Amino acid sequence: MAAAPIATGAPAITGSSSFLYSSPFSLKYPPPILSLYYGARPYKTSVPRNANMAKLQAGYLFPEVIHYFHLFLFLLLLSCDLVSDSLARALSTIDGYSGYGAEQGEKKVRAAIAATYYADLGIEDSDIFVSDGAKCDISRLQAYVDSSVIMGQTGLYQQDVQKYGNIEYMRCNPENGFFPDLSTVPRTDIIFFCSPNNPTGAAASRDQLTKLVKFAKDNGSIIVYDSAYAMYISDDSPKSIFEIPGAKEVAIETASFSKYAGFTGVRLGWTVVPKELLFSDGHPVAKDFNRIVCTCFNGASNIAQAGGLACLSPEGLKAMHDVVGFYKENTEIIVDTFTSLGFNVYGAKNAPYVWVHFPGRNSWDVFAEILEKANVVTTPGSGFGPGGEGFVRVSAFGHRENIIEAARRLKQLYK
Ligand SMILES: Cc1ncc(COP(=O)(O)O)c(C=O)c1O
Repeated sequence: MAAAPIATGAPAITGSSSFLYSSPFSLKYPPPILSLYYGARPYKTSVPRNANMAKLQAGYLFPEVIHYFHLFLFLLLLSCDLVSDSLARALSTIDGYSGYGAEQGEKKVRAAIAATYYADLGIEDSDIFVSDGAKCDISRLQAYVDSSVIMGQTGLYQQDVQKYGNIEYMRCNPENGFFPDLSTVPRTDIIFFCSPNNPTGAAASRDQLTKLVKFAKDNGSIIVYDSAYAMYISDDSPKSIFEIPGAKEVAIETASFSKYAGFTGVRLGWTVVPKELLFSDGHPVAKDFNRIVCTCFNGASNIAQAGGLACLSPEGLKAMHDVVGFYKENTEIIVDTFTSLGFNVYGAKNAPYVWVHFPGRNSWDVFAEILEKANVVTTPGSGFGPGGEGFVRVSAFGHRENIIEAARRLKQLYK
């Protein structure tokens, strides 16, 4: 797969550069009031566009797919009535009102996350930062390719190899068991690793993660470990990088309620930054992350946090397991469909994604074929990076009747 890139470090953008603009002049306060001019020629400010934005290739994959083909999104089911009950209770009382909360998240929520997912792993409540979702935190950490591009950490996009300069891509495919040959990977500051993986559905084994942690330690790198699908793991693969001895000294972990409790729109996740993780000068990474969180974020919505807390109650955990179980059944239907048609499929066991191989074919062509002939939406593998060419990702996030209907149409198409 393509999406396990390593972003090499570069000095942070200085001066008054931002995501949006890149100005040689410093920011002045109060900001000037701009008057709008509606003339034949549009009024332009004097603020230069951030030149890095022009390096981006196309749009973000999913809006692109949706816009292109005017398609639908599968909806996550929220089979968790108690979540909405708790939200209503919290909101409808004077006691339930809260103003700004702690930027790092409510103590109760941090404690419940630590107790539920990190018991016996040496992770404390204070290591946990509650957020508005994993994507936001991974972007704040600049571990996504596009956010690194926007902030000027990468070089230009190289069309011939379909890669950005200054990023090492770790190709993960069936030949290497969806885990990179680390002996060929150069040293980088940051290693972004997602397990269970979106899009391939592969989960790294204990042995593989032990190798990854050792590799990071040998190189003095920091792993940003995306564990958004950990609850989908059915075998004995680790659900957290912190199950690996020594990981607290080299890793940050991001996680989310989105795919366990249908919180994609509610927005709630968390990031673990252990106190043991230090920069080269000995300064704790958590202290700087805390500074960034306090500066750029005013804490996750109290409504979302009340919902998250309900999810971590015994009833909530059961409801989340039921949701995960439902999608895992969908996954089996998809796997059976493609397998019966003679395709090689990967992933699925520990993730809500099936990674289907169409050897020698262009991912976007296969995507268009399935869309146009069966009216079923998949995601082209190459949209995730060059390693995804020849694959499409099929998501299990759908209503059961839609999954069954999609299976019927696929069987018709490829019989
Ligand atoms: C691997 C992975 N990480 C993170 C996210 C985003 O999670 P959130 O909704 O918490 O931002 C997704 C969403 O699809 C994902 O697939």
